[in-house]
Amino acid sequence: MNLESHRFFSYFQPEQVSQLCALAEVESFGDRKVIFDEGEIPDFLYLVLEGQVEFCKRISASKYQAIAFAHANELFGEFGVLDGQPRSARAIACAGARVAKIPRDGLMAILQNTPGTAVLEIFRHIIHQLRMTTTQYVNQIIHQEKMVLVGEMVNTLIHDFKSPFNGIQLSSEIIKEMHPEPDIVEGCDLIEAQITRMVVMAEEVLEFSRGNSSLNKKPTQLEGLFQQFEKLNHTYFQFSQVEYLAEIEPIAINIDETKIFRVLQNLVTNAVEAFEGRGGRIKVRAKRVDKWLEISIADNGPGIPEEIRDRFFEAFVTQGKRGGTGLGSAIAKSIVDAHEGQIYFQSQTLGGTTFYIRLPLDADLA
Ligand SMILES: Nc1ncnc2c1ncn2[C@@H]1O[C@H](COP(=O)(O)OP(=O)(O)OP(=O)(O)O)[C@@H](O)[C@H]1O
Ligand SMILES: [Mg+2]
Repeated sequence: MNLESHRFFSYFQPEQVSQLCALAEVESFGDRKVIFDEGEIPDFLYLVLEGQVEFCKRISASKYQAIAFAHANELFGEFGVLDGQPRSARAIACAGARVAKIPRDGLMAILQNTPGTAVLEIFRHIIHQLRMTTTQYVNQIIHQEKMVLVGEMVNTLIHDFKSPFNGIQLSSEIIKEMHPEPDIVEGCDLIEAQITRMVVMAEEVLEFSRGNSSLNKKPTQLEGLFQQFEKLNHTYFQFSQVEYLAEIEPIAINIDETKIFRVLQNLVTNAVEAFEGRGGRIKVRAKRVDKWLEISIADNGPGIPEEIRDRFFEAFVTQGKRGGTGLGSAIAKSIVDAHEGQIYFQSQTLGGTTFYIRLPLDADLA
């Protein structure tokens, strides 16, 4: 948008608009560039013309928590400009932010000669901002509290499951020794692999609730990963009457295999659950697209409910499922993000859903 059409100027008479525009300096900021920091003395009022600005508060020595955003046609930095107190948050440019800066002294001089209506409009804007920030802050606190609760619950589960898991694993070893026939050994290996998966899954939820997404990347052959995936889900697909098709190009990629397995599992399980026992078809494809590995997971289910599509990847967003925690897709996204990849979907009511995951390919493995 151009400077003059910013909402801020609609509060003023034409004469003051031209004075303010003459004072304004337009600046483009690089992604994640700090516009001002917490504690700085305020010198400008900022009008967002393009992109977006994130506000973060320091919560520990090295950790910042996002508390609000300003989009195009919104303004920020007005609190400090009006009361002269140090900045209460850090402002960071994102999504190609272009911002107009109006110096505090010049603005204050113009405001002194401005009719009450303009000041009233600014006042209204400030109250609106305060309300929005408070709501966002409360939502974030609730979210954090839920995360802490999930963490505590999973911690207890992992602890309590340890001894029954050990028991199952040990029994499986004994059966293998007593009955070394190939089909029995294979069955026992499957039991042991599933137990290991359950432990890893619980640990991953724990990591997610703590906001930790460290990766253990290794060169991985995709075909092997998908074969393992199909094998471990074979009974599940049969039981759920799901036809599973996979078309996997032979590609080597540097990934955290266990975590990417988790992403596939969460998305495929969602598709199976969406069939609600009526059966259906899931088609998985993995192919190279430029410098990316693209994995698509397509189902012919009912589609993701429209009312949650915008917030789909947020934690605790769930719909129409008994016992759904709404963490599956949030965990999937956090893993893809940690790999510096992308995840998105296309979904149509009654027309099925396709998820796309793009992971960067290393030139040396290609
Ligand atoms: N392939 C799909 N088709 C239709 N709806 C889907 C599909 N995938 C997800 N959904 C919908 O999106 C919601 C959110 O999915 P998500 O995996 O985040 O949580 P959940 O499955 O409800 O719970 P959890 O995965 O933690 O057990 C689901 O409750 C479901 O309503
Ligand atoms: Mg799920």
